[in-house]
Amino acid sequence: MVSMSENVRQPDLSGLPPTARSEDTVRMGSGQLNAASGSGAPSGDPAASLEAAAEALQAQMGGTKAGTNLDTLVSRLVVDQGLATADEVAHCLEQARQLQREQNQKSLVQLLVDNEYVTKRQLTRLKAILEAERSGQKIPGYRVLGKVGAGAMATVYKAKQLSLDRLVAIKLLPRKFSQNPQFIDRFYAEGRAAAQLNHPNIVQAYDVGKAGEYHYFVMEYVDGRTVFDDITKQKRMNEKEAIELIMQMADALLHAHERGLIHRDVKPKNIMINKEGVAKLADMGLARAITDKEAAEAEAGKAFGTPYYISPEQIRGEKVVGPPADIYSLGATLYHMLTGNVPFDGPNPSAVMHKHLKAELVPPDHVNPKLSTGISEIIEMMMAKDPKARYQSCRDLLVDLKAVREGKSPVLAHREQTSALAGLASMEAAAVVEVPQDATRPDAGIRAWMLWTLVALLAVSVTINVVQVLAR
Ligand SMILES: Nc1ncnc2c1ncn2[C@@H]1O[C@H](COP(=O)(O)OP(=O)(O)O)[C@@H](O)[C@H]1O
Ligand SMILES: [Mg+2]
Repeated sequence: MVSMSENVRQPDLSGLPPTARSEDTVRMGSGQLNAASGSGAPSGDPAASLEAAAEALQAQMGGTKAGTNLDTLVSRLVVDQGLATADEVAHCLEQARQLQREQNQKSLVQLLVDNEYVTKRQLTRLKAILEAERSGQKIPGYRVLGKVGAGAMATVYKAKQLSLDRLVAIKLLPRKFSQNPQFIDRFYAEGRAAAQLNHPNIVQAYDVGKAGEYHYFVMEYVDGRTVFDDITKQKRMNEKEAIELIMQMADALLHAHERGLIHRDVKPKNIMINKEGVAKLADMGLARAITDKEAAEAEAGKAFGTPYYISPEQIRGEKVVGPPADIYSLGATLYHMLTGNVPFDGPNPSAVMHKHLKAELVPPDHVNPKLSTGISEIIEMMMAKDPKARYQSCRDLLVDLKAVREGKSPVLAHREQTSALAGLASMEAAAVVEVPQDATRPDAGIRAWMLWTLVALLAVSVTINVVQVLAR
């Protein structure tokens, strides 16, 4: 059994030590999909629940002030979201006044539905937006436009930064983290460090702060999808496309590593792809504010699956982890992208983590035979259990990725495999051992071919001898 260490992640801004790499596999469960899809399922009467949400927001905003009454709030929301025109809303408001004169009460929301301007399904979505506004209401300078997603740790909203009139994404962290002073220190330290980074393939960090009881992280808004969405849809990604994406991520990580920042949570859900096809690494600077233990608990608690991409050294709770930890997670991500499977899977987080530490990785080209040998060798080196056996920097990794992209053999990964094979050969020469035959290994095929050639030669030789004896 492996359990998460209780060690607190320490910012590691010093020189970066040799790192270890780990392999994580994850099978994406439907629970994750639901959680990522944002607004929840409709519950009860959508009109009534939207009104309740609007009332709650109104109460929080100070209710009776002019311009904040319920109808104004709903009207603005419906028009802002493009569900109904201002004229249609005015028509419903007029109807409501008319009905009131006839001693007949009907709410604006009800009339919008009766007139078929807004569907019940749209009401459910509006409710989620209102709730988002409620939790984000106290963030001065921003106007929340809607919820874009939720992870194990936090909820992410799309918002407008009013001073600069630009779209941003705001990550609101759960209240429970606010009670841990160590977490808060780490959160701000990491936020500051992340804000120093500036790279086209890193989601830009803008701001950290506290609003009410919530800590928040403001970042560049990425209009697009995540690699997780792509894997879910296509199962396996094309090798060329995946290499292009991973090279952008290696570039982003190199930039961060050179400035002393280790991501620690590289995974398909943290790689976003914008409408122009540019890949962006998300949550830089956030992972290390949360300890492995907190992360594991949050994930297990939400049945979010297991840490499929975490490195062995992070599982062991090593205090200082370096670039190879991110290289391991990037390797596990690439493995998932190209094979459609997480590298290691199991019934619970412990089982998956145990495999990261101990189980042998099934080579990616054994899972997907269409893959080039080169890319498989690269992934195997990225995911070596011993951090020292991995690429020591993303610069080295990029050399190999470039080579494979050009149809050549990787320079470093290839060399390591060759020396491993040489070691194996000398071991075989030194001792007679029973080597289990594995028909899926290419060298097994060669061995079988040689055996049959020897048998054939022996048969020919015996036949010639027999013929000669008979001929005498
Ligand atoms: N900067 C961003 N811009 C747009 N959407 C984002 C951004 N960051 C996160 N998201 C969306 O919010 C979701 C939840 O993010 P997060 O809380 O980091 O959890 P996870 O990374 O586990 O998915 C992401 O899957 C993504 O769809
Ligand atoms: Mg994320």
